[in-house]
Amino acid sequence: LRLFSGSANIQLSQEVARYLGMDLGPMIRKRFADGELYVQIQESIRGCDVYLIQPSCQPVNDHLMELLIMIDACRRASARQVTAVIPYYGYARADRKTAGRESITAKLVANLITESGAARVVAMDLHAAQIQGYFDIPFDHVYGSPVILDYLASKQLPDLVVVSPDVGGVARARAFAKKLNDAPLAIIDKRRQAHNVAEVLNVIGDVKGKTAVLVDDMIDTGGTIAEGARLLREEGARQVYACATHAVFSPPAIERLSSGLFEEVIVTNTIPLPEDKRFPQLVVLSVA
Ligand code: R5P
Repeated sequence: LRLFSGSANIQLSQEVARYLGMDLGPMIRKRFADGELYVQIQESIRGCDVYLIQPSCQPVNDHLMELLIMIDACRRASARQVTAVIPYYGYARADRKTAGRESITAKLVANLITESGAARVVAMDLHAAQIQGYFDIPFDHVYGSPVILDYLASKQLPDLVVVSPDVGGVARARAFAKKLNDAPLAIIDKRRQAHNVAEVLNVIGDVKGKTAVLVDDMIDTGGTIAEGARLLREEGARQVYACATHAVFSPPAIERLSSGLFEEVIVTNTIPLPEDKRFPQLVVLSVA
């Protein structure tokens, strides 16, 4: 078994390697003058089971392309099997056509990964679980929830209500609530007017005087979760926590998340968070 890391989240790859008691394999990564990427595996992997760790986080296109090139390089180096470990699967939000003449990028990316030569995929908290079915190779869909739930349970928060920030996230929130001693569930009726613009309308469920835990798969610009928190406060929630596996944190997420709406914003390290994306209420848990 050999483990290699792309450049997207080397720290997470190192943590995984440490956990397994292995070293990351040697690999050269270069960029040509015109921006094209070059990858070379620096040891024989003939007949090996190769695992490549690379989330397709920002810059998404570069990291995705690097993953495809790594898979291709491993396959051409006669690896027995290449597994793409994708802690954050980018382009997942376009998982179906919602208007005419659109692309389904989640499927396009699945085709690219499969065509490159991956024999198996491991991904965490896909935006939509059915993306597994876009692949005709084995797919392990794993979750950040065990580490987030352990952390929440250790805080022993009183009068919990688990809140889904939109109707699409109800199954995820319900699973969280079940694991938190069958906490009650509330749902925010979110309607989007445009991409990356969240408009919150209504809370379904009782949050008055409670500790509200908003659960989402990702926080991108922070609009969904911040609007949700504002509404929960208006409806009388005593404290608001936000949890999400993927901290995409595109601007203006940091301003929105650190504005005092949240007791804590709990995320995992599927995407690396440099110092300028950290703030006092942020808790980062490792999924290594
Ligand atoms: C949407 O369906 C997703 O689950 C997230 O709620 C959304 O992508 C978060 O985006 P933002 O933080 O930009 O509102």
